[in-house]
Formats: sequence, C-alpha cells, structure tokens
Amino acid sequence: FDPDFATYRLTDEHQMLRAAVRELADDKIAPRAAEIDQSSEFPYDVLEALTKADFHATHIPVAYGGLGADSVATAIVIEEVARACASSSLIPAVNKLGTMPVILSGSEELKKEVLTPVAAGEAMFSYALSEREAGSDAAAMRTRAVAEGDSWVLNGTKAWITNAGVSSYYTVMAVTDPSAGAKGISAFVVHKDDPGFSVGSKERKLGIKGSPTCEIHFDNCAIPASRIVGEPGTGFKTALATLDHTRLTIGAQALGIAQGAIDASIAYMKQRQQFGRPIADFQGLQFMLADMVMQTEAARQLIYAAAAKAERGEPGLTWYSASAKAFASDVAMKVTTDAVQLFGGAGYTQDFPVERMMRDAKITQIYEGTNQINRMVIARQILK
Ligand code: CAA
Ligand code: FAD
Repeated sequence: FDPDFATYRLTDEHQMLRAAVRELADDKIAPRAAEIDQSSEFPYDVLEALTKADFHATHIPVAYGGLGADSVATAIVIEEVARACASSSLIPAVNKLGTMPVILSGSEELKKEVLTPVAAGEAMFSYALSEREAGSDAAAMRTRAVAEGDSWVLNGTKAWITNAGVSSYYTVMAVTDPSAGAKGISAFVVHKDDPGFSVGSKERKLGIKGSPTCEIHFDNCAIPASRIVGEPGTGFKTALATLDHTRLTIGAQALGIAQGAIDASIAYMKQRQQFGRPIADFQGLQFMLADMVMQTEAARQLIYAAAAKAERGEPGLTWYSASAKAFASDVAMKVTTDAVQLFGGAGYTQDFPVERMMRDAKITQIYEGTNQINRMVIARQILK
C-alpha cells in the first residue's frame, strides 16, 4: 500500500505562488481595500499591479499567451487577493468566468482573437447569463440572437453583470431558437465597441463595491458570425459547464474573505484588553476562534479538492464545485459575522476591516447560483 501523500499537500510551486500573491496583496491591495469600498470605484491601480505580476488571468492557456496555470493555482490567486480585498479578487475570478466558455467550447480562431488580449492584460472579460426575470431559472432568458447574413444580431438586456463597463469582452447567452427551450440557447462573444451595445448604470450594493455590477443592453447589436461560441443550441450547456469550473473559484473568494477576518481577529484578540487581560485569554472567544479556523480550513480543503478534480477532468465536478462554493460561502458568512462579534463595538465601525468583510461575504452566498440552487444541483446529481 503506497498512499499518494502528494494529494494532501500543495506543490512547492503552489506554495511559492501563494507567497508571491500574498506579498503583492499585503503591499498593494490591503492598504487600498477600505478606500475602494468607500469610494465604490473600480481599482484600476490594483488591476495594473495584478497585470504587471501576471496574476490577472493566470488560467489562460500558454498557446494564447497566458501562464496556463492549473485550477488550484488560480484558486490560490483568487483566495489571496480576496483575503485583502474581495472586490479586487473579482478581477482574476471574472476573467476566468468570462473566458471559460471560449476555452471550453470556442473555435481556435475565436480563442486566438479574444483570449490573447486578456492574457496580455489589454482586456477584461465578463459573463452574461442572468436577466431580471431569469436569475435562478437561467434558461428562461429572453435576450434574442438572430442570424442575418454574416452576422448575429442581438436584442435584449442582461442584468447583474460583474465588471460591466470595465471589461472589453462579454460572453453572452441568448436565445437562437425560442421553440427549443434550453437547447435553443447559444453563446456569443460581444465586444464593448460593437454597434448597439451599451452598459447601464451601476447597482448600489451592500458589498463588493469596487466591482461594478450593471445591466448591459443590446439594441440591434450586430456581431460577426465567427463570434458564436461552439454550435448554435449548445450555449446553455457551455454556460453550466463553465460554472462547474468557476463555482469553486467563488468558493476561493469566500475562503479568502474568511481568512482575512480570522487574521484580523487574532491580531485584535491579542491586543485588546478587558478585565486586565487580553480578550484572547477568554475561553468563550477562544472557542469561537477555533470554530472559525476549523470551518475555514475544511472549506479550503474542499475547494482545492474540487480544483484538482477540475484539472484532472474527473466526473462529479458539478456537485463537488457546487459544494465547495456553497460550503465556503456559508463559512465565510458565519466567520465574518463572528469576527465582528469578537471585535465588539469596534467591529461595527469602519475603523476595522471586519464589517466590510461581513458585507462582502454575503454576495458569495448569492451569485454563481444561490446556495439554494447549488444545493439543488448537488442533490440532483447525487440522486441521479
Ligand atoms: N454541464 C453541462 N451540461 C449541463 C450541466 C452541467 N453542469 N448541468 C445541466 N446540464 C445540461 C442538462 O443535461 C440539460 O441538457 P439535456 O436536456 O440535453 O440533458 C441542460 O443542460 C439543461 O439542464 P437542466 O434541465 O438541469 O436545466 P434547468 O433549467 O432545470 O436549470 C439550473 C438548471 C441548475 C437551475 C441552472 O439554471 C442554474 O445553475 N441556475 C443558476 C444560475 C447561475 O448559477 N447563474 C450564475 C450567473 S454568473 C454570476 O453569478 C457571476 C459571478 O459570480 C461573478
Ligand atoms: P431569484 O432567482 O429571484 O431567487 C430569489 C430567491 O428564491 C433566492 O433565495 C433563491 O435561492 C430562491 N429560489 C429560486 N428558485 C428556487 C428553487 N428552485 N428552489 C429553492 N429556492 C429557489 N449574473 C451573471 O450572469 N453574470 C454576472 O457577472 C453576475 N454578477 C452578479 C453580481 C452581483 C453583485 C449580483 C447580486 C448578482 C450577479 N449575477 C450575475 C446574478 C446572480 O447570479 C443572480 O442574482 C442569482 O443567480 C440569483 O438570481 P435572482 O437574483 O434572480 O434570484
């Protein structure tokens, strides 16, 4: 019997990558996080720092000028950026979400055209599945795409699009055959300069305020026929197969937020004195901290296991990735709420980062499928 112990530890390369991202995040991102939250402005300086270090889209294959980093590595990048600033972690996370449909199903020509500028740091990529009336029930979308000569012409509105207005490219799921249900949905790449494309106003949100969320509109938006992703009618499957790879990265974002809250809590517990001693001496708080660490580490292991599964192309990724996302986001919500409690009154103020982390954690239970939908996805696959 020769157990594969390598399964249970990160490679030296992964550990070096973590150290490098953490150094950059501590130096360039953490000091900006409170300001990014308060101003609700997209952090172009963080984008520049991530791009310079090649951490903005590590997953793009080498053939298109990327680093070709594996899924575990990309999760680590997102986790470490989120530990400092959840808004900033949506730069690598949504670059992966937006490009994944093209990586999974796009033609070679389309891959070359749209992945290369993302790898080079010249463009960002968003993902547009949701609509106002089609969120959890994504297949109920109304946005239409019609073939006209050498073009596809899009009409409709997508809602809640992360990094809209900042991204140059958008993967857009639209109905090409209204009589065919989910099999009548196709995926397209739209560029911000395409005629008839426009971005709506920014949503005013509870958290992740440095990442713009907007509607995007298509008004007779004509794009070249070559910008379809895969065959007509395969767009919904491509959209869901993408989420199999990226729900775990939202898990990584949640994990980073939880770790940030734990690190802040440890420092505060040692320094804050009540009843003549550090509050870290009180067993009531020690037990809270122990639970926070225990649950966060369990989330970490599930996320890395899901990422390793994605990398190996193993079956079962759908429920594994949904589990990683749902578990880690529930943990992040609990851990950040407990962190605010550990800080007492100070935790409720903007003088410390934990209230921001608590607000940022909430979205991880909602997007890339609410945790109810993710539990439904898990149960459906297990019962099948
Ligand atoms: N991979 C590939 N194909 C899949 C699949 C997967 N993981 N899951 C299902 N399919 C296929 C099915 O096999 C089916 O095809 P056949 O009919 O040929 O068998 C087809 O897709 C339709 O599947 P369902 O019948 O299961 O579809 P449904 O309408 O019941 O809905 C759902 C499924 C799971 C509820 C889905 O709509 C869903 O995941 N909803 C949540 C939406 C979501 O996650 N949105 C995220 C938006 S992105 C975001 O939020 C951004 C951000 O984080 C920054
Ligand atoms: P609804 O579907 O209206 O859900 C309302 C409630 O009903 C929820 O609690 C839900 O869990 C529950 N519910 C619904 N159906 C069921 C069911 N069958 N069983 C049990 N409970 C159910 N989308 C994109 O495409 N691209 C993006 O970049 C993107 N970014 C986002 C960024 C932010 C900040 C936000 C808020 C959303 C973003 N979304 C994005 C959309 C997000 O994926 C949806 O909000 C999410 O999928 C839920 O859809 P909904 O808001 O319409 O909620």
